[in-house]
Parts: sequence; C-alpha cells; structure tokens
Amino acid sequence: MSSSKMQSHNSIALVVLLSIFSCLEAQLQVGFYSQTCPIAEAVVTQQVANAFLSNPGIAPGLVRMHFHDCFVRGCDASILIDSAWGNTAEKDSPVNNPSLIGFEVIDAAKSILETQCKGIVSCADILAFAARDSIALSFGPVYQVPSGRRDGRVSLASEVQSNIPSPAMNVDQLTTNFANKQLTQDEMVTLSGAHTIGVSHCSIITGIDDRLYNFSGTNMPDPALNPSYLPQLQAACPRGSTSTSSVVPMDPNTPMVLDNNYYANVLVNKGLFTSDWTLRTNPATAAAVNDNANNQAQWLNKFTAAVVKMGYIDVSTGTAGEIRTNCRVIN
Ligand code: HEM
Ligand SMILES: *[C@@H]1O[C@H](CO)[C@@H](O)[C@H](O)[C@H]1NC(C)=O
Repeated sequence: MSSSKMQSHNSIALVVLLSIFSCLEAQLQVGFYSQTCPIAEAVVTQQVANAFLSNPGIAPGLVRMHFHDCFVRGCDASILIDSAWGNTAEKDSPVNNPSLIGFEVIDAAKSILETQCKGIVSCADILAFAARDSIALSFGPVYQVPSGRRDGRVSLASEVQSNIPSPAMNVDQLTTNFANKQLTQDEMVTLSGAHTIGVSHCSIITGIDDRLYNFSGTNMPDPALNPSYLPQLQAACPRGSTSTSSVVPMDPNTPMVLDNNYYANVLVNKGLFTSDWTLRTNPATAAAVNDNANNQAQWLNKFTAAVVKMGYIDVSTGTAGEIRTNCRVIN
C-alpha cells in the first residue's frame, strides 16, 4: 500500500473514531450512577413519594418542571437556579412563577445525595428521575431514565417566553416550537397528553389565553369551548379574578391519573387551552388525537418514549458544565 493511501486510510479511521467518541460523549445511559452512587435513584424516589403523600400536586408539578427545564437551554437544571443580584432566573419568569411547584423536593433529594455521594449526582438527573417517579405515582408507566446529564451555569428569565410554548398557540406554532427542540409533530401531540394530570391557574384561561370572557378581544367566550363545560369553568374562575390560588383541573374526570382521558376531553371540546383544542384543527394532529383517545396502551408507550427523548434535549455530558452542590446556585 502506498504511503499516501495509508495516510488517507488513517485519517478516515481517525475521523470515524472521533465521531464515535463525540457521539458517545453526548450519550446518556441507564444506570449511570450504578457504580458511583448506587442509591441515587432510590433516594429521589423516596423523596418524591414523601412529598407526594403530603401534597399530591407535586407529581404534575415535577413533570411540568422537567419539561420547562429541557425546553430552555436543554435539560441542565437551569430551571432550579434561584434569581440573584442582577439576574432574574428562569423560575421567576411569569411563565413559571408562581405556577411551577416542586423545587423543595429536588432540594431534599439533593441534600441527602450530597451527604452520601458528594459531588456525583447532577440536579438535572435528579429532576429527570423525579419526573419519572411522578409519572409512576400518577398510575402511569414505569420506565428507565438514561442519565449522566451535567448541570448548566446559566439561567435567564428572558429566555423562557421564547422557548416554552404558550397556551394561546395554534397547531402550526406548537409544531414549530417542538421542532425547534427536535421533537416531531406527533411527539408534540403525544406529550400534550401530560395535561391529563394537574391543574391550571384561572389566570391563564381568563388572561393570556382568555377563553372564558373575552376571547380574542370579542368580549365573548371562545365558541369552540364545550357549552356545558364553559359555565363550570366560569364558576370556578370569575371574570377578572387575579388570585394566584384559584385553579381548575386540566382533566376533571381523573385529575390524578396519567391516562389517555386528555384526548377524550379534547374530542368533546373540553381541552382547557387553545393549545389543546387546536390539535383538532389539523388533519394529522386530529388523527393522532383520535388514535390516542382510542388506544391507551399505545399512547402510554409513545408518551414514555417521548418523555425520554425530551430528556435528551441539548444535554451536556462528560466534563461539560458542573455537578451543582446546591441545585439553587451555581458552584
Ligand atoms: C404543547 C404545549 C404546552 C403548552 C402550551 C402548555 C401549557 C401549560 C399551561 C399554561 C399550564 C398551566 C400552568 C398553570 O397556570 O398552573 C400547564 C400545566 C401543565 N403542563 Fe403543560 N403545556 C404544554 C406541554 C406540556 C408538556 C410537553 C408537558 C410534560 C410532558 C406538560 C405538563 C404539564 C403539567 C403536568 C401541568 C400541570 C402542572 C401542575 O399541576 O402543577 N405540558 N401547561
Ligand atoms: C377585551 O380584549 C380587548 C383586546 O384585547 C381589549 O381591548 C378589551 O378592553 C377587552 N375587554 C374587556 C371588557 O376587558
């Protein structure tokens, strides 16, 4: 073999090797802490279960928190960082404050893990495990969470609104928003089914997505909202109520159960937000809504796969970022 040919073979081999290496580097793995901190996942599970016993609302809260973490700067626990002098953090964006709950659960798990496995378990992984445990506590499927995420050092409230989808979005806007995170339109429909658990504050459906009193400035309710559901929502959420404590369940039939009832609601125009109703307005998403409403087992499989995929968004691994000591502050 001529030396120039050998050289080119060598450089091809090097390129192949490097790309395998960088691919592995960006990869997460199930059981990432099995050698370095075998108790990691059990500690999180225990803390989520404890918190759930005193406030079952933390289960939907933690599922939403994982989503809001991953959609802004990737799944890097940026959602957990507290605001500090000169920096308003993600959690203090009006999108998240006061509606996002469950921060104390992550703190509790982290503080145990810092005493037992100092500097090993990332806050981003704790949040991904906690979301998994919350889904299980909601009678949803049990699945394995690939881990090995590293924590980020930046959290900016100003980045939240442009990355987290708005409840007033239409199907095209939602599709683009999810595509920006490498998630398909079908995965968007699949993940929207998370609105089978938890609550919304009245301020959403009388405010940014006012479907109860002044829809699109018409001074009328949204005509697309189920006419028997409308008065129930209006009774729960009076016009102009600014209280941050009044909430309505997103799936009034089974608000604590991760089932496919969300899709049944959407089909009878009882989806709470414009972003739920709008899934009926496009042939592909309408077909997916039907499919998911008719096949719970299939939707549950798709849901866990999509949550796992969401958990890969822009993750840092290896030596990038850091393992935060306190999930609320960068090291
Ligand atoms: C498709 C676009 C989405 C929009 C526009 C949206 C919007 C919203 C809004 C406005 C709320 C109510 C917040 C409040 O005022 O309390 C909410 C709650 C919630 N969302 Fe979404 N969401 C979307 C997708 C998702 C995804 C992908 C997940 C998770 C996989 C998710 C999980 C939840 C959960 C569990 C709640 C209830 C939170 C609680 O009870 O504390 N959402 N969402
Ligand atoms: C309804 O919405 C429109 C447009 O946002 C606004 O100009 C109007 O003042 C609102 N009406 C009431 C009664 O709040």
